Formats: sequence, structure tokens, C-alpha cells
Amino acid sequence: MVGKAGIFELTNCVAIVQEVLSESDPSCYQDPRILANFMNETQTLRKSLKNGKIRNEKYHQATSVLSKIDENRTAMSPIELKLRLARPISDRPIILDIQEPQEYRDWRIQGSLNIPLNVLHLPQSPSSLPKDKEIITVCAHGVKSSEVAKFLRSKGYNARSLAGGLAAWNNIYDTVPVAADDVTDFKLLQIRRLGKGCASYIAAYQGQCAIIDPSMHIEEYEAIAQSEGLRIVHVMDTHQQADHVSGARALARDNGARFYLNPLDGFRYADFTPLKDGYTVTLGDGGVTIEAMHTPGHTKGSTSFLVQDRYILTGDTLFVEGVGRPDLGNNAREYALDLYDTYQERLLKLSENVIVLPAHFSQSVYIEFLKAVSATIGEIRKRMPIVDADREEFLKQVLAKIPSKPPNHLEILRINRGEVRYGPTRLSALEEGPNRCAIPT
Ligand SMILES: [Fe+2]
Repeated sequence: MVGKAGIFELTNCVAIVQEVLSESDPSCYQDPRILANFMNETQTLRKSLKNGKIRNEKYHQATSVLSKIDENRTAMSPIELKLRLARPISDRPIILDIQEPQEYRDWRIQGSLNIPLNVLHLPQSPSSLPKDKEIITVCAHGVKSSEVAKFLRSKGYNARSLAGGLAAWNNIYDTVPVAADDVTDFKLLQIRRLGKGCASYIAAYQGQCAIIDPSMHIEEYEAIAQSEGLRIVHVMDTHQQADHVSGARALARDNGARFYLNPLDGFRYADFTPLKDGYTVTLGDGGVTIEAMHTPGHTKGSTSFLVQDRYILTGDTLFVEGVGRPDLGNNAREYALDLYDTYQERLLKLSENVIVLPAHFSQSVYIEFLKAVSATIGEIRKRMPIVDADREEFLKQVLAKIPSKPPNHLEILRINRGEVRYGPTRLSALEEGPNRCAIPT
């Protein structure tokens, strides 16, 4: 049995180790004093377990803490990876993706290196990797990558596996300011779902905000609103999404906000305010306006939102690297003609300086830390001449380049239309994989 002092020490060391483990910022491991304390306490715990000095509920607590430590040593959480990738390049780990090349092209972490599993196991293969840098192995779900990390560690590499793989990375978000005007108190934020390539927006003014195209992880938006001291008063979707589950309805309901959709997209529920071309919502004293602009083509009801006449949130109608896909309805040619008219008669008639903010970005878009994915109308015209091509040329090019449909898109459409409901595990599985919303130009 452990004496009174011993019990106190064990309680103390479990508490200290737990506190360090629960730190969301892994830089705490870089602080020599914290690290030394952590290592000492961990050692005490291990010794006490070995000597049978920990019993009953304390035993379970201590073993779970130690297994968490072991997991941290061999795996990196997606949150930790996000923080590490925000550091200067020289301080970032090597991300080693072991998927097959086709899988890697389709779904990957920006800046990762692809060495497929079978190549990696060739006798000469790991020697091309540096031993002085941390290596994070990645696969779809973190199972094979965990084995590879173990294999690399056995060869002397400093390797860990991304816990949960790309599926877990798909649920990681960051927030980037698009605009901030201290004088008028106006703010526009881009919330990016990094792995999936989705972008949502928060427009804020005088303590109120509108949220556009939120994902099903509504807690992400609620946390931002709370930390910024904002009340969510408007929630809208640009269109019926096919690649991810919308959180708009739940977010509006949970926060007593008004919820807006364009009924032309055929929703099975009716508890929303119907969006029509020109419908305008305001924030605060009316100093910030968000105007709906009907921009069909990707879907019949696709609606862009013009914020303060300076920013156009285009949903999946126009991207910074491509045009919207017209094939998710029944008639790709008819939808492509709508898209052409939308470009010619609506979006390209906006000022060249208006900033386009899309609802998605593809694997080819380079994501910069603290820099929004955006382009002006003028930049898009220069970058993508197809938007200014004549009608027949536009149709020919767009219809010839349509990529394969997003994974599980029919099921996701049914959910977003309000036809079926699933639990969070099933929803996460349905959303796996990248978005495939843009037609590259
Ligand atoms: Fe879409």
C-alpha cells in the first residue's frame, strides 16, 4: 500500500500529466521546464504502475494517461498538425502520404510527399528521407500510416502517424479574415475546412452576424460567434450542396436566426425564408447589406451573395481556379447554358475589383496561412479566359472537362433536401473524400 504522502504524489502526477496532455497547443512540449516536469511525472507513474503501487480507480486513470502519452509519441493529432503547418517552412514536418498515386492526386494534404506503401517498403526507399526532420505518415484512416511510422521508427527515423488519417483531417478548420474595417466595425471571415476544401463565411457588424454555407460542424461557427461577441441573426446556403452535409438549418434553429434558401433547389421542408433575386438582409443598424443574386447554372436555385457591393460569395457557381459544374441536375447542357448566362449577364458585369469568395477550393489551390482563398473579377477574367469565351466554345470546354461526381453525392443531396436523417458517424463516413465542385480550366 502506498502511504498518505505516496497517494498525494500519485494524484499530483496524474493531474500534471493530464494537464499537459490536454493542452491544445503542442508547443507546451517545447518548453524545457514543462517537458522536464512532464517526463519526471510520467516516469513516476510508470514506476508506480510497475511496482503495483497504484490500485483500483487510480490504476485505470494512470494506465489511460500513459496510453495517451504513448499514442502522442507515435501519432500526431490533426489539430497539432494544423498548428505545425502554420509554422515557418523550415520548422514544419515532412508529410509522407503512403496512398496510391491516383488516391493521392484525388485527396491529399497540401505540400505532402507521396511515396506509396509498396515503394516505401523497397529496401532502398527510406534512405531518401531525412533523419533529422520529423516525418508524419498519412493514409485515408491512419491505420496503414501507423504501421509505416512504426517501420520508419525502427529504421531510426523520427516518424509519427496522422491520427485518423485524411478522414480526421477532413474535420479540421481554420479562420481567415477577408476584410476588417475598424471604423465601421465590419468584418468578413472565411472559415475553411482544410481537408475537404470547403469555405463558409461570417459577415459581422455591430454585434450581429450572418453565416453563409456552414458545414454540419456547427459548433465551429458558434465558437467563433461566441469569441467575437456576435449574435447569429441570419443563416443561408448558396445552394443545395452535393459534396457535404449542410449545417445551415441546424445552426439557424439552435441560434434563433432567420434561415434563407432558394426554393428552386427543391427542398422538402419549408421552414425557411425563400430567397429571390435582389432580396437583401442587413446587419446592425443597416450599415451592412447582403444582397441575394440569383446565379443559376450549378443548380437551378444557386444564389450568390453580394456583401457591401465589394465581395461576392459565389457558392459553387464560380471558383478562383475553375467554373461550376453543371451536371448534378438532369441536363448538363441546359445547366451549362444557365451558367454561361450567369457569367455574362450577372457576375462579369460586376466591377473588376469585386472580390470573389467561393464555397470550395480544389486540391490544386495553394492555401496560405492567414490569407483567404479569393480573386477579383478582373483576376478571374485574366486567369480563366473560358468565362469570356463565346457560348458554343464555353459549352464545348465545360462539358468535355466535367470530373467524376463527388463521393456519395446522391445520398448527401437527399440529406440536404431533408429526405433522410443520419447520425454523426454515418454522416462523417458519407463526407469522406475531397470536394469535386469545380471544373478546372
Ligand atoms: Fe455544390
